[in-house]
Amino acid sequence: MNKMTVRDVDVKGKRVLVRVDFNVPIDKESGRILDDSRLRAALPTIQYLREQGARVVLCSHLGRPDGKVVEALRMSRAGIGDRLGELLGAPVRTLYHVIGPKAEEATKALKPGEVLLLENVRFFPEEEANDPKMSTALAALADVYVNDAFGTAHRAHASTVGVAAYLPAVAGFLMEKEIDYLSKALTNPARPFAAVIGGAKISTKIGVLRNLLAEVDCLIIGGGMASTLLKANGVSVGQSLVENDQLDTARDIMQQADEKGVPLFLPSDAVVADRFAADAEAETVPVQQVPSRMRIMDIGPDTVSTFCETVEDCKTVVWNGPLGVAEFPPFAEGSLAMAEALAALDAVTIVGGGETVALVQEAGLEDRFSHVSTGGGASLEFLEGKTLPGVAALRDKKA
Ligand code: 3PG
Ligand code: MG
Repeated sequence: MNKMTVRDVDVKGKRVLVRVDFNVPIDKESGRILDDSRLRAALPTIQYLREQGARVVLCSHLGRPDGKVVEALRMSRAGIGDRLGELLGAPVRTLYHVIGPKAEEATKALKPGEVLLLENVRFFPEEEANDPKMSTALAALADVYVNDAFGTAHRAHASTVGVAAYLPAVAGFLMEKEIDYLSKALTNPARPFAAVIGGAKISTKIGVLRNLLAEVDCLIIGGGMASTLLKANGVSVGQSLVENDQLDTARDIMQQADEKGVPLFLPSDAVVADRFAADAEAETVPVQQVPSRMRIMDIGPDTVSTFCETVEDCKTVVWNGPLGVAEFPPFAEGSLAMAEALAALDAVTIVGGGETVALVQEAGLEDRFSHVSTGGGASLEFLEGKTLPGVAALRDKKA
């Protein structure tokens, strides 16, 4: 990464504002954290800063409160400070404020190594508006700014972009790791390099497919979006989810693959069901024989074999998006088989996207991937070849 990191600045005794992405899934009823992966992912940066004698001020959003105070989206209600304190093995002070005199006072009262967590930064409309008033108010809380919120790096907000203009601004270790893995895959991958792309809709992945086609040695497509490609190929997919307004784009992508000589693998068989439900009656059929009243819910066993054999020889694999309706256990088989195949590889394996990451974690395979991204939208935009504003705003490494 050509950006300065926490290693490149002196933080001893300084107040360091760290933008983290603690936008964790929370339980609807209790409001408590369901998955603390994003907290764990930020630990190396926080620990390092503490060890260096920095006074650490953490800032994050939680959910989408739309510029208002939403009680259900308070950091304290979710128990984020407490959980972080347990993980750090040190107390984390939480504050009911984000900016202003009370927040400034609290940051000044911090001793070296101490950690303070601010309230949800999206309680202010000026945050998402990237209003300089918000950026300067945030900058008044610190001497150095660190962005470790890779998951929010695709947003140009005051706490991810604006504030970087007013303080020495560098990347944290998580940001560095995410960018390094993803950019190495895109610019200098060990080959063969395959991308496995799934998910419900092709419309959300077009940019990714186009950009990856220029880089990969083969492309594997499953999930709901495969139905649109199959239909564009003249296959009758019954009641399957199809984006009819994307059929031309689908044809265009297949043609692009053809012109570049990139093999594009689509499902050859499918698990189909009569309803979109976990307990729906299911059967396996070749994709050419999907009954008109049925819909595709997962890839079939022949497809699983082909997909898994295809990735076997690869040295880099990027996976984003489940290959079936993975939230229903009976239709998660294809995705699980892919997770296991990738976990077994001696290769650089990168997985991104909320649902895909959750599946890998639930299968207990997380540690067997080279890199599990904390970014959903951010990792997709990166794979689309876009510059992430939160990264662009940081200081370049000196030549
Ligand atoms: C995410 O979970 O995708 C990030 O935290 C960004 O959140 P947002 O999509 O609400 O901007
Ligand atoms: Mg999102």
